[in-house]
Amino acid sequence: MVLKKEIHTKREGFSSSIGVIAAVLGSAVGLGNIWKFPYVTGANGGAAFILVYLLCVALVGLPVMLSEHLIGRHTKANAVGAFKALQPRRPWLLVGGAGVLSAFLIMAFYTTVAGWIYAYIFKAAGGALISAKPEDTFGVFNSLISGVGEPLFWQWLVLLVIGTIIMAGVTKGIERVTKLLMPLLFILLLVIDIRSLTLPGAGEGLAFLFKPDFSKITFSVVLAALGLAFFKLSVGMGAMITYGSYVDKNENLPKMAIKVALADTLVSLMAGIAIFPAVFALGFEPNQGAKLLFVIIPAVFNSMPFGRVFMVLFFMLTAVAATGAMLSLLEVPIAYLTEQYRWTRRKATLLTILAIGLLGSTATLSNSVFANVIVFGKTFFDLFDFTTSNILLPVGGIFVALFVGWQWGYAKVKREMSNEGRLKNDGLVRIYMFLVKFIVPIAIVIVLLAGLNLINPIISFFKDISI
Ligand code: PFF
Repeated sequence: MVLKKEIHTKREGFSSSIGVIAAVLGSAVGLGNIWKFPYVTGANGGAAFILVYLLCVALVGLPVMLSEHLIGRHTKANAVGAFKALQPRRPWLLVGGAGVLSAFLIMAFYTTVAGWIYAYIFKAAGGALISAKPEDTFGVFNSLISGVGEPLFWQWLVLLVIGTIIMAGVTKGIERVTKLLMPLLFILLLVIDIRSLTLPGAGEGLAFLFKPDFSKITFSVVLAALGLAFFKLSVGMGAMITYGSYVDKNENLPKMAIKVALADTLVSLMAGIAIFPAVFALGFEPNQGAKLLFVIIPAVFNSMPFGRVFMVLFFMLTAVAATGAMLSLLEVPIAYLTEQYRWTRRKATLLTILAIGLLGSTATLSNSVFANVIVFGKTFFDLFDFTTSNILLPVGGIFVALFVGWQWGYAKVKREMSNEGRLKNDGLVRIYMFLVKFIVPIAIVIVLLAGLNLINPIISFFKDISI
């Protein structure tokens, strides 16, 4: 009896510094780096956008990530429990509740895209994607996404894979798998980078990525960069609070957040290097939007020697990245349900996966069965994407920053950030507090207003002005 109680109350955690980095990086690195980052960069003009994006990561994304880690580690609790522990009688726990909801909604469309990626590994290997013409590869993509049984099968397979890993636990599941997957991802990316860079004519793509044309920085480019930074670093919805709660008291949190943000940015840049030199070398256009990965990339691979092998590798690494990110998304409701309601990990995982599967199916069928179901002017897929990226994540991020900056208190934050005074990082604490008190909330308010289209009058005012 006593033993059972102990098992229930003892909290699992990451077992080593390397494990922590792997898991947190595993959350940040995902479809955001390999699917979103390249197409948003392509659509926004390349290098200048990347520079603004880097600024957004450093000044907004990084401080919010650190805030979530501090809250999580201090309370050793899930997203809702953490706020409850810090401010028991205040409505701050709603921020955690909104995070759990966000995790569900992101999972609903993220598992759809991850399913397409899983499917593409097999399509690439089996020879279904052998044309070098975008019209042909578009046909393959279109038939996949407008199907019913096929995309659903892949989405549920994705859920089964991550459910199995999550059920194994924090140390034996998440930490063990991400520790294995992250190095694999780097190696695969490196191989594809070398391939892309050695194609004749690759220089033009590199120039697109690294030679900024500052006339391209407009107000809307800054907004796109800020939104991406949020999604990229998995902040604003409790994933980093949850993972932070598994981090040891001796870990240097600011150092860790900086390392993760740097490594995540490196992966995005490496994905850019894998894609753009090849796109330019083979005569394609970089501004293809969301279909860049599924339509243009296969055509690019098919235009080069040994393309099929590289294509299989490429989609494998994307699947790896997406899987690590989904583990952190799924862990948010799992930690909440097991801690707040005392559900077993098994029960929580099975029921959550079932719920995500049902909700996510509506996203997957957005191009077929539910193509005509339009809610607030959007299909289910777009609605989940829009509501999370443009509303819930920014709202979550702003409250996290406000909470740490204005509610928790300087002395307590300093204690947590310096590991009870053992780390001498006074200057860093001061810079960080300035960012979360002022810069982060102001920047996020701008993103939020733009996301809700409330800022249109301002945009039209600034329209032709380059910053
Ligand atoms: N950071 C992930 C990516 O870039 O693909 C997406 C993500 C994962 C967002 C986990 C939020 C989250 F909690």
